[in-house]
Amino acid sequence: MRAPQPRSNQRSGAAEPAPAVTECGADPRRPPPGRYELVSAGPSPADSPPSSKIDTSIPHSARIWNYWLGGKDNFAADRAAGDAYIEIFPGVVAMARASRQFLARTVRYLAGEERIRQFLDVGTGLPTADNTHQIAQRVAPQARIVYVDHDPLVLIHARALLVGTPEGATDYVDADLTEPERILTAAAKTLDLDRPVALILSGILGHLPDTDQARSIVTRLMAGLPSGSFLSINDGTTVVAGAALAEAQDGYNDTGAVPYTLRTPDDIASFFTGLEVVPPGVVSCPRWRPDPGDEPTDLDAFGGVGRKP
Ligand SMILES: C[S@@+](CC[C@H](N)C(=O)[O-])C[C@H]1O[C@@H](n2cnc3c(N)ncnc32)[C@H](O)[C@@H]1O
Repeated sequence: MRAPQPRSNQRSGAAEPAPAVTECGADPRRPPPGRYELVSAGPSPADSPPSSKIDTSIPHSARIWNYWLGGKDNFAADRAAGDAYIEIFPGVVAMARASRQFLARTVRYLAGEERIRQFLDVGTGLPTADNTHQIAQRVAPQARIVYVDHDPLVLIHARALLVGTPEGATDYVDADLTEPERILTAAAKTLDLDRPVALILSGILGHLPDTDQARSIVTRLMAGLPSGSFLSINDGTTVVAGAALAEAQDGYNDTGAVPYTLRTPDDIASFFTGLEVVPPGVVSCPRWRPDPGDEPTDLDAFGGVGRKP
């Protein structure tokens, strides 16, 4: 099934299809935008890659994550890496789902209680059931969302993320987290950076092994957003499960995938320095404003939300 034509970049509300991708810097390793058919929201890639530039023999974060979340947009190497992790630490699937549920609750909170109408979601991942724009635009159809990722397969699937409400807008930027100023410049084509924006960093900061570098990038991104903006982060720890999780993560980091660093909750909390952290603070994701009927238990995904004063 093909996804419908995008309705992105509709500042005017006109139903004219916009380019699916905002190029943010030329990277010769990446497939050019528009060259490939969208495969998202459709059948599995069935292990035949849409581009020879996508190396399906090396596991990728976005695709392993997609596998753990029950998606079909992954290849044999991703499933093997995901299964090897599960064999040592089966709880990773619950962690991945808790992280997505946290993302959904924070976006709903920000769009609803905080009346945020602009979202910058860096480290988007492959499209799944409830993407940031769908959650935000369910609360506020006029919400504008910019997605950012550096994975070529996410780029190919991006068009599925660009189908939003006619009142709102969605855009996709092919860029790297380590280039925060470029991200902000590209995001400014869709978002008004003089008005509050919620920056979403869900399951991405662990890809930066150096905590000081990660903190500096968060600070530089937040510096480009005005007072009243928000930051939502969730990331992995080992404080609940301990050795089994650490061992599974070490195995993952040896697969050739970009390694992921599991931090302490204090390290994750340090990313909110200078912000007003919203109650209940930085906590295990299931304990962050659970939905009625939820029975939260501690997991090694910790997250929080902070407001820029
Ligand atoms: C674990 S997935 C999380 C996906 C999604 N945010 C979620 O919470 O479900 C991490 C995502 O971050 C992206 N990513 C990793 N390092 C990145 C970087 N340096 N710049 C941009 N995106 C990156 C990966 O491609 C992947 O899509």
